[in-house]
Amino acid sequence: MVTTYPPRIEPSATVRMGDTVREFRARDVDAINLGSGSPDFATPEHITEAAMRALGEGHTRMGMTAGLPELREAIAEKFAADNGIETDPASIGVTPGSKFALFAAITQLTREGDEVVLFDPSWVSYEAMVDLADSDIDRVPLDPEAGFSLGNVELAERVSDDTRALVLNNPVNPTGTVFSRAELGEIRDLAVDHDFWVVADEIYEKLVHDGEHRSIGSLSGMADRTVTVNGFSKAYAMSGWRLGYYTAPQPVVDAMRAIQSQTVSSATTFAQHGAVAALEGPQTPVEEMRRIYDSRIRTAIDIIEDAGGTVSRPSAAFYLFVPVSTDDDVELAETILDEQQVATTPGSAFGVSGYLRLACTIPEERIKEGVTRLTECPHVAV
Ligand SMILES: Cc1ncc(COP(=O)(O)O)c(C=O)c1O
Repeated sequence: MVTTYPPRIEPSATVRMGDTVREFRARDVDAINLGSGSPDFATPEHITEAAMRALGEGHTRMGMTAGLPELREAIAEKFAADNGIETDPASIGVTPGSKFALFAAITQLTREGDEVVLFDPSWVSYEAMVDLADSDIDRVPLDPEAGFSLGNVELAERVSDDTRALVLNNPVNPTGTVFSRAELGEIRDLAVDHDFWVVADEIYEKLVHDGEHRSIGSLSGMADRTVTVNGFSKAYAMSGWRLGYYTAPQPVVDAMRAIQSQTVSSATTFAQHGAVAALEGPQTPVEEMRRIYDSRIRTAIDIIEDAGGTVSRPSAAFYLFVPVSTDDDVELAETILDEQQVATTPGSAFGVSGYLRLACTIPEERIKEGVTRLTECPHVAV
């Protein structure tokens, strides 16, 4: 047999946990999935209707790599209204999932040996993307005492003229941290001083429970050094539609588009018609889903606290980042899955051990059952 190289990257930890839960369920085991970042709500009806109408009207052929012009127009208006980012449809790309936009941005902006700053904790896939670009990762721990924001982090000591890019997830998966205006200003000053790129992943922007989200790309000096990425998966419960988008300076947009045209071509045409309805239609379903996530989070926190544990209330998104009394959180998550049939994601998948991430993407009753089972395990709620 022809020899194979070892895999370039590991499979996503969150996807792996979900697969195990599905295996349990196939054997009729009552498994509870607190591991999935995929919203459990149905996509709002006016969005599915628009996509079905597009299908009926025959929008089934491949469209422009850049994305449907009317969708890019709606995105440009959204960037201006919600984010204070002035851009135009020519500088916007629509991708199959924001994950692909992040991949294209990181592989375009960085090369072998470049330094890329990732915060700890941060979403599982950035590291794999930087690895695929053969760039070097500089992991900068956020301050747990300051709710995993910059707090007492000496960021100025950690970046230099060798820094090529910084990936800024705001709000953060897994902690729900929303960076303040002052923190964004600090990152902006360093990016300008050392001339580096910021890849801003704002996919949880619409799910803010406390405080206010701001886009770093709107700050002065950032327009020509920021790729702002967003998507429909979280806000509109559209994770299976695979739709993301970005804006960036034109040469970067052109280069990212070339990567897209030579790999995945374009996002699904009729799905993009649904996305136009998502942006232009009523936003009340988004707020309704946010309110339910917030209520689930509060329920989970109450159960953990009643059992004697502590956990911070996240300012955004639908995750809880729960401290546990062991650094071997990978083994703990596996034990909990085997013994209690509850899937969680170990903090080390996000670069910080000693935590479990719980995703409140299942109905409240199931959260109650799952979190209660968890609190009965050693090392949790202590
Ligand atoms: C921080 C973050 N960015 C990006 C994504 C990818 O989202 P999409 O479904 O748009 O590819 C996720 C999904 O879990 C995420 O948590």
